[in-house]
Amino acid sequence: MSEHIDFTALTAPDREPIARLLHRALVHWYESRLGQGSRFGGSHEPFTLFPDVYEALDPGECVTARTASGEIVGVCFSHERETHVSVGIVATAPDAGGRGIAKKMMSLVLDKAKRLGKPARLVSSLLNLDSFSLYTRLGFVPGAMYQDLLITVPETGLAAPAPAGIAHVRDAVLADVPRISDFEQTQQGIRREKDFAFFIRNEVGAWRVLVSEAADGSVNGFLAMSVHPSFTMIGPGVAIDEETALALLWRALDGLRGQTLVFLAPCAASALVRTAYSWGARNVELHVAQSTAPVAGAKGIVFPTFMPETA
Ligand SMILES: CC(C)(COP(=O)(O)OP(=O)(O)OC[C@H]1O[C@@H](n2cnc3c(N)ncnc32)[C@H](O)[C@@H]1OP(=O)(O)O)[C@@H](O)C(=O)NCCC(=O)NCCS
Repeated sequence: MSEHIDFTALTAPDREPIARLLHRALVHWYESRLGQGSRFGGSHEPFTLFPDVYEALDPGECVTARTASGEIVGVCFSHERETHVSVGIVATAPDAGGRGIAKKMMSLVLDKAKRLGKPARLVSSLLNLDSFSLYTRLGFVPGAMYQDLLITVPETGLAAPAPAGIAHVRDAVLADVPRISDFEQTQQGIRREKDFAFFIRNEVGAWRVLVSEAADGSVNGFLAMSVHPSFTMIGPGVAIDEETALALLWRALDGLRGQTLVFLAPCAASALVRTAYSWGARNVELHVAQSTAPVAGAKGIVFPTFMPETA
């Protein structure tokens, strides 16, 4: 890299430039490689939700790359959790790409994870060899594969009948946070109480969390979602089996009538995926969970998301 770049934390005035950078990097990458830049819309404004949410959730953890004149040319969000460090969206300005900026930002996050003695986890596009390669070069190991399903929920709700399990699904309250976290830890070997409490408090962004309970009252699934108009996406969530996952998903979609949104579903959950197709969902991308230390024996049906990024 010829020009000197500083790697620093995010400050309040960076909100707008970071939103512009995220929008520009995504539009440029997806348009130049896949002809799909329009999928990110024509304005950077919805992307201000990313710095707003990440800074509210974990102030000071974002890494930015700046030129000597102060221009932000790279951003990498990350957040420490009980069991791991989650890495959120990573982006480099198109005209600053290929010069090691993303690699340096990621290395700083990985150094932090190492100091904490925790693995790093993220979700990476399988259509984006630049980011896939960046992560695998840094020691991330690809794991479960997910399909990004785009669905428009009719104004009148899904035509398909509600799965039987929806009787056991309700909106979560703060008191559910430890139980949801225990369930995720049992299934996936990760814990992140702070995220669930943040969603349920609902102070920055707009969130909903559903929880499903078995006949004995134990948690057998949960599904969070961002319902903010700037970013509507289902996830994160985990269910004990596909039936429970479908009940949570149906309830989530029913609350999003008239909206078009994306959710990620495990490719291996073939019954769930085929049911989603029958509801009108279409594949638009593939993602893979990556970790520097994959959890052995992870189980359950996982719905990852992109903000706050989870896998
Ligand atoms: C993905 C992105 C962040 C990469 O940023 P960047 O600053 O250009 O990346 P870097 O120059 O730091 O590093 C790229 C690394 O991947 C390697 N790489 C890229 N393509 C590769 C390939 N096909 N095979 C192997 N390695 C590859 C490069 O060689 C480099 O590693 P090296 O320095 O060890 O040689 C950037 O393209 C971007 O912002 N894209 C749009 C936003 C996005 O999609 N973000 C990822 C989703 S979260």
